[in-house]
Amino acid sequence: MATWEAEDFRAAGADGPAGAVDVADVADANDRGAVRALTPELTEDDLGIDRSLRPKRLEDYIGQTRVKENLAVLIEAARQRRDTLDHLLFSGPPGLGKTTLSAVVANELGVSLRATSGPAIERAGDLAAILTNLEQGDVLFIDEIHRLNRSIEEVLYPAMEDFVLDIVIGKGPAAQSLRLDIPRFTLVGATTRTGLLTGPLRDRFGITFRLDYYNEQELHDIVVRSAAILDVDIDEGGAREVSRRSRGTPRLANRLLKRVRDFAAVRAAGEVTSEVARAALAFFEVDELGLDTMDNKILDMLINTFNGKPVGLTTLANALGEDAESLEDVYEPYLLQQGLIQRTPKGRIATQRAFRHRNVPFDLFG
Ligand SMILES: Nc1ncnc2c1ncn2[C@@H]1O[C@H](COP(=O)(O)OP(=O)(O)O)[C@@H](O)[C@H]1O
Ligand SMILES: [Mg+2]
Repeated sequence: MATWEAEDFRAAGADGPAGAVDVADVADANDRGAVRALTPELTEDDLGIDRSLRPKRLEDYIGQTRVKENLAVLIEAARQRRDTLDHLLFSGPPGLGKTTLSAVVANELGVSLRATSGPAIERAGDLAAILTNLEQGDVLFIDEIHRLNRSIEEVLYPAMEDFVLDIVIGKGPAAQSLRLDIPRFTLVGATTRTGLLTGPLRDRFGITFRLDYYNEQELHDIVVRSAAILDVDIDEGGAREVSRRSRGTPRLANRLLKRVRDFAAVRAAGEVTSEVARAALAFFEVDELGLDTMDNKILDMLINTFNGKPVGLTTLANALGEDAESLEDVYEPYLLQQGLIQRTPKGRIATQRAFRHRNVPFDLFG
């Protein structure tokens, strides 16, 4: 059944304008409950207690000062105009608060957040169903928007620009296309790298915000806030230790806090002091720079296996048994930011700092 539906859609698409959706496909998407993909429970952090850790308002969102200031102005202006906010794109490495910020934007606007993700939208009909089920002013959040299929993306263009959907009814020479108005909405896209977005899609966002790694003070404040919510007994030294090793990333700060709490409950009297935090992080193999076993494995590969010579991304990924995309999106950004690796035209290379970190004399290779 799935096969003939797909063919059906391609046939219809060939008759209509680019980005047009077969009306039957939309009805089908509705029948399959595709709109139910719009649950906020899409990311692991949304499950369980992590949800309580997400700030709900701009004033509770720690750090990213410039982004917050800009958003505050845009949100206030939209409110005064009684209009929807421009479409926004948030970019930055995983765990820096893109999803959280999208929910904050919806909250501040006083509208509903509908969340989905690029890979979750399998067919143009699914997206059309989502769009037609929006309410005026809603925020539609599309996570990993760079992973949207091209033909689906084309449905998004007229929706973003003119709040319309092109629909095709019937097939072959008798097919008719018509434009359907959809409610005015704000699209908030999130991506780990803006470079992965197609030009036409990127151009349709009014504003792009890049989230940066958090500094130690900001992470400290996040750890203290989360500890209060989770009722974790942590002292100043403990909070400093956890934030220092969180790789500038709130998600990791929260994750380390929970691990340290569990360690403290079992191995110590329950209070997280700096000694307890240090012992816990050593136990969980998170080092002084916040690098875990995988990060250090990457450095060791570059230093030892490849003798300090430049290595291409795919070669490195294969050697590590990781896929190139997650190596590039998840692991590399922090290693680059910390000056532990460098990207050269010939490939990735370990820096002097990396050698020092792994206790390997640098001049051996110089
Ligand atoms: N600015 C912030 N202040 C406090 N906590 C934050 C902040 N940004 C992110 N977090 C926490 O970090 C976790 C990961 O954030 P998330 O929005 O899921 O990141 P992303 O979508 O960029 O991967 C969230 O569960 C949230 O609790
Ligand atoms: Mg996210």
